[in-house]
Amino acid sequence: MTSGKKAFIVGPGFIGWNVLDLLVKENYVVTGYVRRQAHADQIKASGATDAVLGDLNDKNLITDHAVSHDIIIHTATADHLPSVDAILDAVQQRHEKGLSTIFIHTSGTSVLGDGAKGSYKSDKIYHDSMISEVDSVPDNAPHRQIDLAIVRSRERFSGKAKIAIIIPPLIYGFNPNHGRLTIQIPTLTRYAIKHGYAGYIGAGLAVESNIHVLDLARAYMVLLHHLESTPAGSPDILENPYYFTETTGDKEPSWKDVAALIGAELHKAGHISNPEPQTIPPENYDDLFGSYTAPVIGLNSRSRAVRLRGLGWKPVEKSWAESYAQDELPFILNEESDRHAFNGYKGAVAS
Ligand SMILES: NC(=O)c1ccc[n+]([C@@H]2O[C@H](COP(=O)([O-])OP(=O)(O)OC[C@H]3O[C@@H](n4cnc5c(N)ncnc54)[C@H](OP(=O)(O)O)[C@@H]3O)[C@@H](O)[C@H]2O)c1
Repeated sequence: MTSGKKAFIVGPGFIGWNVLDLLVKENYVVTGYVRRQAHADQIKASGATDAVLGDLNDKNLITDHAVSHDIIIHTATADHLPSVDAILDAVQQRHEKGLSTIFIHTSGTSVLGDGAKGSYKSDKIYHDSMISEVDSVPDNAPHRQIDLAIVRSRERFSGKAKIAIIIPPLIYGFNPNHGRLTIQIPTLTRYAIKHGYAGYIGAGLAVESNIHVLDLARAYMVLLHHLESTPAGSPDILENPYYFTETTGDKEPSWKDVAALIGAELHKAGHISNPEPQTIPPENYDDLFGSYTAPVIGLNSRSRAVRLRGLGWKPVEKSWAESYAQDELPFILNEESDRHAFNGYKGAVAS
């Protein structure tokens, strides 16, 4: 397959590096925007043609590089407006030159969170095919201000730019070629090793949809091909920019289910003496996600990927429980770190 189209990925980390792999496989000419030389070397070894070193706050640098690309994909974080503005400036410059651009942004389904703090399982399910459901979330929901800035920008480019927002749920999975982990379940595992038990917030009854990172990467490609083959002025592109991705359907695990698996597997591996999951006291939240702990691992967030399934995408990877036991936990247990010094996740918190 020969594409030759130029794609620019901002922040090819756990999610984006897997997308980069698929773009390279389909012969897109890919440039990654990274902040570390070691990571630049890694993505070049994966087939990226180029790597630009910079920070997300280097707005002009992002715009200057993005402007020469047909496709721009932001996978660094769902919460950084300056880098999104930098991309939109590039889309604008291309628009003024009569060039079309595809821009896919990455948000996250904590935008759907309900503040449950683990106390109940919600009946509320969001379908991406119903834009009114996605748009019903409050403007101050996590990620929403960024998503709204992108949604509102589309009017400027109608007829030229094709802009979409992928909204992934809890991501799991592992690519041994990359050696990168996701956020929530590894953090809960490190907490369990430090404290001797696997835990959950409140009663642990809230549920979140989930997706394997390789299924997610394929979802980006299905969406990209859809955008490439659909006119920018078509109602599908103009009316609804949102795409969910999920594996679980109605079988979302509760946070207590997640903790039970972590407890059972760590117990089996000889790392904790009691496999029974327990409520985590709020005074220990700094060993998880600090003040974001309840919104990140105590929320209900039930999403349904109606649109991508309609385009032929379907998840094929192993389930979250199999992936944890077979792939993620062995990698975590091999980490060379002082397990008792672990004091919470330090990256940008998300899903
Ligand atoms: N993982 C999930 O469960 C999940 C679910 C839903 C939504 N999301 C959203 O997706 C985003 C990416 O998730 P991920 O799991 O792929 O995270 P990740 O592995 O940390 O990837 C993010 C990439 O962005 C880079 N980056 C971060 N801050 C930067 C900065 N200031 N300047 C330049 N590069 C920067 C990181 O660089 P380094 O490699 O140098 O750290 C990393 O390579 C999350 O932040 C979240 O908003 C994630």
